[in-house]
Amino acid sequence: MSDPASQIEFRDFDFERHFAFALDHHFELIREHLPDWDAGQAGAKLYEAHVKEITHDPCCRIWVGELEGRPVALIEASFRPNFSPAVGHISDVYVVPDLRRRGIGARMMKTAEDWLKSQGASSVDLNVNALNENAIILYRKLGYDTHQLNMKKPLK
Ligand SMILES: CC(C)(COP(=O)(O)OP(=O)(O)OC[C@H]1O[C@@H](n2cnc3c(N)ncnc32)[C@H](O)[C@@H]1OP(=O)(O)O)[C@@H](O)C(=O)NCCC(=O)NCCS
Repeated sequence: MSDPASQIEFRDFDFERHFAFALDHHFELIREHLPDWDAGQAGAKLYEAHVKEITHDPCCRIWVGELEGRPVALIEASFRPNFSPAVGHISDVYVVPDLRRRGIGARMMKTAEDWLKSQGASSVDLNVNALNENAIILYRKLGYDTHQLNMKKPLK
């Protein structure tokens, strides 16, 4: 049987079909890497508002990878053509645990980068938690380099 990863189809985000999946992944990321963020009711409302806003924004796009109709991966990209410099942005890269290390993350990144380029972006940036080693390995392998450090300290 062929590798399921090769059968994944990337579709544009559809709120009714994909929101529950996207919220699960959003919360998973918060629990693992963003302890200051709210993974409760208020956080869910904020995320819902964000997703609704960007699905109506022509400068933003979310793709969902589907395997036999089941959402299994997600990526978000945005680009403001009137802004300078012409930098696109990628965020919320996610693949369900049982399908990782099959090249899906890299394929999604290529899909997002191709779209950003088609919109006029000459480069692309993204933010990643410094402790998220797997994602950092993926991004470095795809040619991303550290160009800015985001620093933080707790206020007592
Ligand atoms: C990060 C993530 C999206 C990677 O997706 P993926 O589909 O597993 O990535 P790929 O299979 O395309 O990996 C491509 C390359 O990245 C590197 N890589 C990815 N995951 C890795 C891991 N767990 N350990 C080491 N290297 C890894 C490898 O070099 C890999 O190539 P290889 O498998 O031929 O060695 C996935 O692990 C994920 O969803 N993690 C949780 C959400 C998250 O942290 N997202 C990033 C937010 S910034």
